[in-house]
Amino acid sequence: MTSKKVAIASDHGGIALRKNIVSFLNKKDIDFEEFGPEVEESVDYPNLAFTVSEKVARGDAYRGILICGTGVGMSIAANKVHGIRCALVSDTFTAHATREHNDSNVLALGARVTGPGLALDIVKIWLETEYEGGRHAKRLSQIEQFENTQG
Ligand code: RB5
Repeated sequence: MTSKKVAIASDHGGIALRKNIVSFLNKKDIDFEEFGPEVEESVDYPNLAFTVSEKVARGDAYRGILICGTGVGMSIAANKVHGIRCALVSDTFTAHATREHNDSNVLALGARVTGPGLALDIVKIWLETEYEGGRHAKRLSQIEQFENTQG
């Protein structure tokens, strides 16, 4: 059975937002595992993205949240992991749509782009919104089939 845990990581650019999101998860009694630096010394985002994404891909966590300055580096790295559908989100409409249509299992946020209030709204919507399946399933399976042709 897939875990109900959320894996969350940030680089140095995302520490403050990560802490805000962790407080929210704690308040909502959502189980989580946290990675990333405690102090703002520079760290490279790829390994943090791979750690969280592999947890999700293996089913050790059911969702992942990744934060860097723009969210771009984290999302690029996360989407290299087989089975990961990472969405870089900076608005609430996309937070809904990427769960309903893409069944995104990792959320990337840009701490230098998206303010903390909006970021928390995005996290809440993204965690609560269910995948719609139906016509979207065929598209996701096309992505999965292509992924399976890659090394
Ligand atoms: C770190 O300076 C910055 O490059 C990183 O946080 C992120 O924005 C990369 O995409």
